[in-house]
Amino acid sequence: MLSTAVTRLLEIDVPLIQAPMGGGPSTPEMAGTVSDAGALGSLAGGYLSGSQISQQIAAVRAVTNKPFAVNLFAPHDSAPTPEEIDEAQRLLEPYRRELGLPARGEAGPAAHDFDEQLQAVIDEKPNVVSFTFGLLPPAAVASLKDAGCVLIGTATTVAEAVAVAESGADMVCAQGSEAGAHRGTFLSDGTDALVGTIALVPQVRDFVSIPVVAAGGIMDGRGVVAVLALGAGAAQLGTAFLRCPEAGTAPAHRQALSTATDTSTAVSASITGKPARGINNRLMRELAGHAMPAYPHTNALTSELRRRAAELGEAELMSLWAGQGAPLGTELPARELVAKIAEDAATALTRLGGAHGS
Ligand SMILES: Cc1cc2nc3c(=O)[nH]c(=O)nc-3n(C[C@H](O)[C@H](O)[C@H](O)COP(=O)(O)O)c2cc1C
Repeated sequence: MLSTAVTRLLEIDVPLIQAPMGGGPSTPEMAGTVSDAGALGSLAGGYLSGSQISQQIAAVRAVTNKPFAVNLFAPHDSAPTPEEIDEAQRLLEPYRRELGLPARGEAGPAAHDFDEQLQAVIDEKPNVVSFTFGLLPPAAVASLKDAGCVLIGTATTVAEAVAVAESGADMVCAQGSEAGAHRGTFLSDGTDALVGTIALVPQVRDFVSIPVVAAGGIMDGRGVVAVLALGAGAAQLGTAFLRCPEAGTAPAHRQALSTATDTSTAVSASITGKPARGINNRLMRELAGHAMPAYPHTNALTSELRRRAAELGEAELMSLWAGQGAPLGTELPARELVAKIAEDAATALTRLGGAHGS
């Protein structure tokens, strides 16, 4: 379709990346199908162990021999005090009881072992490795490059994009404030870094020399053409793929997406300790304003209750991650969605060409 610096580097036909979506929605079936259709599918490795990453990569390779990406979370930690953890647990007790869980649970490990995840990726050598929440350690960058992986780092501000480029990444994904789920912000307070996609992409393009991928609020072919016009070489879409049958999105999450409006979402740090955009529900509203321990600790403290809410179909107590473009989503199978986005982008380009000529 459209050849750009990104499509050439990633060896894909369509300037489209299916975003990694941790916590369930990303599946090997979806990543493999998207890649097989000529775009770039992504596995979400951030919440997986090294062996789970290896298994998921093998499952993608059973679907396609085309390039695909594996996503990692840059290692980071914070050290909340026992009092802060206790206060957060106390706040969560009524919700846990409401869902039939013991008042206090055993929070699992806050984060998976990054070195183990990295080793699995180095062993498997996927064509592309994307990352968010910060920079990869220099040794990890060197090892992944030796393994032949193209590296894409996430930025939500111009300063972060410059840092991603200086860290040795091959491309930067500029994540606008419309984007669903966690903000990749790592150099400023999350609430200062809510720059919209249409403002962020051209500024990043002007400040860094590596190719730019645009993310946030892009749902269809029109959106892809818009970000290409702003200087991006491809668009990364998450929310648009959440309702595909191949996605692992929970039924109550799918239902909430199908009735969302342009004003349904909000950004909150209360659910996981890191700013994230989701459909505003009771959990988000009631935890708002409470100072929760930083990510990944609150994420670990709330994960059992959010998982149980999903099992029970209690949408008001789940995390309903979604971007501002959610109402534009469809239930098309992944292969058809990629084809439709490519076709609609070509139509939008032709229309613009006609407008220019008239
Ligand atoms: C449910 C969900 C989970 C996500 N999980 C991840 C993740 O694990 N890693 C990551 O880099 N980005 C993740 N993202 C963010 C996407 O990479 C991307 O920035 C975002 O989806 C773009 O905005 P959009 O949702 O409006 O398309 C997630 C997005 C969603 C909707």
